Order: sequence, then C-alpha cells, then structure tokens
Amino acid sequence: RSWKDMLLFRKNKKKPTTTVHTKVDFDHLPRHVAIIMDGNGRWAKKRGMPRTAGHAAGAETFRTIATYCKDIGLDYLTVYAFSTENWKRPQEEVGAIMGLLRKYLHEAIQEMAQDHIKLQFFGDLTSLDPELYQLCQETRKISEGYDGFQVNVCLNYGGRDEIVRAARKFAQDCVEGKAKPEELTETSFANDLYSAGIPDPELIIRPSGEIRTSNFLLWQSAYSEYYFTDVLWPDFSPDELLNAIASYQGRSRRFGGV
Ligand code: FPP
Repeated sequence: RSWKDMLLFRKNKKKPTTTVHTKVDFDHLPRHVAIIMDGNGRWAKKRGMPRTAGHAAGAETFRTIATYCKDIGLDYLTVYAFSTENWKRPQEEVGAIMGLLRKYLHEAIQEMAQDHIKLQFFGDLTSLDPELYQLCQETRKISEGYDGFQVNVCLNYGGRDEIVRAARKFAQDCVEGKAKPEELTETSFANDLYSAGIPDPELIIRPSGEIRTSNFLLWQSAYSEYYFTDVLWPDFSPDELLNAIASYQGRSRRFGGV
C-alpha cells in the first residue's frame, strides 16, 4: 500500500495494513522533526547527471515530505537547505541552489493561502541576493497570518554561528546595562536563537549514510533522537519518514534521568 493510500486511510479512518504504517503510533507523533537533506550530489552522479539536477530532485522531495508531514499532523519540520559553509562550493552549484530556492518561494507564496504551510527561515539572510532576501521576507510576513504546521528552512545557517550571535547580543545588552551576566539562563538564551519559541526537535533525520551532525541545530539537538539511513535525499519517501518515526517511537527517552 502506498503512502497516498495511507493518506486516504487517515482521512477515511480505515485500518492500515502495511508493515511500515502499523509500526507507527499516529496518536503520539513527535511535534518537531528536523532533516539534513543530504546526498543530492551522489544521487545525480549515480545517474550521470550534474549535481544541480540532484538538488532539483531534492527540492521536489522536500515538497513531498513537507506536505506529508503536514498531512499526518506534525507541528514543525526544520530542513537544512544551505549552510554557512556551503558558499565554498563552485559558484555554479551555489547559483543553482539559490535559483531553486527562488523558484520554490515564488510558488510557495502563490500556494500558501490554500496550503496554509507556514514558512520561516533560520540563518543570516542579509548575505543572500536581494531578490531571494525579499522573497524570504515576504514569505515570513504572509506566514505570520497563519497558525498550524510550520516549516523552518535553514538558509545560510550554522549552529555555532547561531550560538555566537546570541552570545554577542547578550554581551551587548550587558555593556548597555540592559542585562546582567548572572541573569542569563538556558531559557533566556534560547530566546535569542533563530528557533525562539519553537520546541526542540524530538527527531533529527540524516539520510545518505553520513553519521555526523554538521553544525545543524547544535543547541536544539541536546536531547534529540537521531535517525540515520543510507537512502539518498532525492529517494527519501514518506515511507522512509515513517520508518524514522517508528524507530524514534521505539526508543526510551530519559533526558538524563532513569
Ligand atoms: C546536500 O547534498 C544538499 C544541499 C547542500 C542543498 C540542499 C538543497 C535543496 C534540497 C534544494 C532547495 C531546497 C528547498 C527547501 C526548496 P550534497 O550536495 O552535499 O550531496 P552529496 O553529499 O551527495 O554531494
């Protein structure tokens, strides 16, 4: 049974029959899932295509997975689209990824009113090209009018950079006499991160066989469960997502307790 049938099942409340779906407890889903969309380049190479074709396929997968997350009832999806280190890639590849983001945001702005998917951005947007920057601002503004499912796109994002920015802001507040060092708490510090007000991700997924965090959500991942799979991002399907959620649900989360 395909994931599309599963969606119909969710709508019609029939009993699921496939192994993947029966492994998932849909009444206790994580609220926030984060994904490192990795493996686009290798996916393209395997097919004798340019890396940029892999990113285009990855962008389609992003659309499918975001819609699916909304349909099954997650509250937040955070994806790593472009890191502070990705500028080191060839100019042509950087340009292609930025082009995909522009295309996607144009479409998202058209479709937001019907889809009600809120889009927010984590990262320093000021060094993006002016058109993309404007699109991000516009998308952000439209999103403020909706509540419900939210996608956070990490764009020119780095976990260390995010923490340094928050530290710098607090230091500045101290210099200006607006804050005192002893007043800083984990909660107040978290309010100066891009993710202010958003619960930490319970589950972080990294496809493509790499087993590292690559500067993604360093602060927010303190107690996240990780799920790694060899599947390359363009091949990642709703069934893969359900496998990850089933694995997460099978773990015992103790947060340092017993
Ligand atoms: C990592 O794969 C992927 C990226 C650096 C770019 C991700 C961008 C997209 C999926 C497109 C735009 C996104 C949205 C939200 C529309 P890689 O290039 O490192 O792959 P490799 O490890 O196989 O080389």
